[in-house]
Amino acid sequence: MNEVIIQAQDLVKVYKSKKGIFSSRKEEVKALDHVSFEIKKGQIVGLIGESGCGKTTVGKALLNLLPVDGGKVIFQGKCIYDIDNHKMCSYKEMEQLRRHMQIIFQNPASCLNPKKNVEQLVSEGVKKHKICSKSEVREYCLNILKQCGLEEKYLLNYPSELSGGQKQRVGIARALALNPEFIVCDEITASLDVSVQAQILNLLLDIKEERGMTYLFISHNLDIVKGMCDEVIIMYKGCIVEKAKSEELFEQPKHPYTELLLKSLPAAYPDQKKTGYETKQIIMNAEGQGCLFASRCKYAKKECRERVPQMKEIGKEHWVACHQAVQMTN
Ligand SMILES: Nc1ncnc2c1ncn2[C@@H]1O[C@H](COP(=O)(O)OP(=O)(O)OP(=O)(O)O)[C@@H](O)[C@H]1O
Ligand code: SF4
Ligand SMILES: [Mg+2]
Repeated sequence: MNEVIIQAQDLVKVYKSKKGIFSSRKEEVKALDHVSFEIKKGQIVGLIGESGCGKTTVGKALLNLLPVDGGKVIFQGKCIYDIDNHKMCSYKEMEQLRRHMQIIFQNPASCLNPKKNVEQLVSEGVKKHKICSKSEVREYCLNILKQCGLEEKYLLNYPSELSGGQKQRVGIARALALNPEFIVCDEITASLDVSVQAQILNLLLDIKEERGMTYLFISHNLDIVKGMCDEVIIMYKGCIVEKAKSEELFEQPKHPYTELLLKSLPAAYPDQKKTGYETKQIIMNAEGQGCLFASRCKYAKKECRERVPQMKEIGKEHWVACHQAVQMTN
């Protein structure tokens, strides 16, 4: 059995933002509501759920790129933070760990300094972390770029002189150059056309084979997740509602929300009209204690309004947060 590379426990993140330009009142959005999971070394774990459910926030929280309000993250046995016990690794320790855990975002242009050329962009981390000797940096970066499908002739180009696919390759090369063990890929092919998407995905798979890489793969494209991932996590409104082996999840979804999502395959996300999914309006009780999905769920019963469903293992490594999951299984 593979060892666990990263573990998230009870992550809570509440964003507070101003309600409007003229208002001093703050609006709170609970982006993560006690999110817990672990990822085993060498696996590709998919993370899906509709827009705004908290996927990017999970990725950033794992890498300690934003302050969270609760929970802990353990990476390769090292506690990155444990909010409830007031533990946080130092800036210096985090800098060292960042070499081993990377994130690649959907829009590479926003992460690439427009004033640096490809060589500078890829080599800065290599120099900072002393990945190789100074005299080897150029050759090292060139090799990584080649591996990512970018030829030497682009070395002196600036991001504005590259296509979307080429920028994405630079983003991937920058991450790979640090030789990380874990990468969060946040919608990295969403803005690319289909043939470039395939090239980038194949590149990720090749690198996984070569280096035994572990990925958290965030995507709206269920077809890609189905083809790429060993396990899949489904999120709804800041909560994980289902987690299972990819094959099992796509063949036998047990959470009504997952069922709804998968009905739209191969398209991105369904709306209820498209799927013909019947909804029963169930009003949450005063304390808002019920299941967050109740107002959209055709299986909702009285207890769904009264108790928040907890994650339960209903089959081998198949976890679901739904009161009716067992009945649905039978
Ligand atoms: N900096 C921020 N300030 C305030 N609210 C935020 C901030 N970042 C995210 N949010 C809110 O937190 C929730 C989760 O956002 P997040 O970006 O994690 O969602 P997502 O699942 O990645 O969505 P998408 O699929 O659209 O990328 C959303 O409601 C979003 O509006
Ligand atoms: S707990 Fe109830 S409302 Fe929530 S998903 Fe399950 S059946 Fe539907
Ligand atoms: Mg996102």
